[in-house]
Amino acid sequence: MKHILIINGPNLNLLGRREPLLYGNRSFSDYAEELRTSFPEIQLTAKQCNEEGELVTALHEAFDSFDGVVINPAAFSHTSLAVADAVAALRGENMPVVEVHITNVYAREAVRSKSFVSKYASGVISGLGLEGYRLAISYLAGTD
Ligand code: DQA
Repeated sequence: MKHILIINGPNLNLLGRREPLLYGNRSFSDYAEELRTSFPEIQLTAKQCNEEGELVTALHEAFDSFDGVVINPAAFSHTSLAVADAVAALRGENMPVVEVHITNVYAREAVRSKSFVSKYASGVISGLGLEGYRLAISYLAGTD
């Protein structure tokens, strides 16, 4: 059974309450249950990291324990070389990593158009709402 890690960066624990016009009104824990039902053949672990070091450590834990990572680094996408370096390290070991953004970061403030993580990700999904996580998992389910 494949084991996939979903990592959410800062403020995504507020999904459902945070700027619902942008991020919708569904909590991630509710959505994660739906994902588990949709992918019974995959073991899904979801982690919420509001701090940068916590997020880097969560990525390190993926090295030996997971087959793929879905990451929404949230604001750290645009600020953190440390998070980007940790993703680069995972990719260096051929771990597939998909970067997901709920909103279309290219249609927002200019600062959000730059993600330090994207260069190292296997692929990026931006602007498809929570559906982006499902698409990322579908992709990872099909990788060797
Ligand atoms: C986000 C986009 C980021 O710019 C923002 O800081 C977030 C969420 C998204 O999922 O659309 O917190 O990553």
